[in-house]
Amino acid sequence: MRVVVLTGAGISAESGVPTFRDADGLWEGHRVEDVATPEAYDHAPITVHRFYDARRAALAGVEPNPAHHALARLEQGLGDDLLVVTQNIDDLHERAGSSRVLHMHGQLLSALCRACGGRMRWDGDLVDLPPCPGCGVSELRPDVVWFGEIPYEMDRISDRLAEADLFVSIGTSGAVYPAAGFVQAAASYGARTLELNLQPSEGTDWFHESRHGPAGVLVPAWVDEVLG
Ligand code: APR
Repeated sequence: MRVVVLTGAGISAESGVPTFRDADGLWEGHRVEDVATPEAYDHAPITVHRFYDARRAALAGVEPNPAHHALARLEQGLGDDLLVVTQNIDDLHERAGSSRVLHMHGQLLSALCRACGGRMRWDGDLVDLPPCPGCGVSELRPDVVWFGEIPYEMDRISDRLAEADLFVSIGTSGAVYPAAGFVQAAASYGARTLELNLQPSEGTDWFHESRHGPAGVLVPAWVDEVLG
């Protein structure tokens, strides 16, 4: 059985990573949409760097939860038949042991050089405008996909949705495209679709089945079902 899993901020919520659109979704009074755009970066790069530097630093204090571990266990069972597509920029899937993960919105632990186009692992801050290790120019930005930019890996994701038998969406509000459209795409190609989310998402009616509750409970239970 070929499975594509889409994850969003809700899968990391029980690890202590704030979601975007729940009650705790503001950062120092900014809406996420106001700091996660190319325009915000052009007008107030220091504010944007501080936002992402704080989130990158916070990774050191969080751990994968049972939902991340369950998906790693599913990968051990399904191998290449499982692909995890995540909108999350944290590294909790990898730290739980998943290796077949596509970060469609980029990664906190990566920097992108606006001068040379290089992408590199980045653990520290960017607010001090360090030079790019590749070209020496101080034009490093967070390697994340902002509103108005094109997500990474869309061709591979589309190919995998087209051949999926099952599409499962975990912990995402269904408010941000193109990820919010994956359920319809997968269903149109013939996949069964399942939502696992704390509450009905904006796209809940598109799914064949929806289960509502915390990911740390729902995901391990669902993985047990699949692995029998
Ligand atoms: N278990 C399961 N689901 C949860 C939990 C939990 N413990 N806690 C919250 N949720 C659900 C919420 O009910 C909500 O539907 O997770 C969803 C989180 O939604 P968002 O905060 O909108 O996050 P996400 O869908 O990942 O956002 C998409 O928006 O800001 C951009 O680029 C950013 O990748 C992000 C994208």
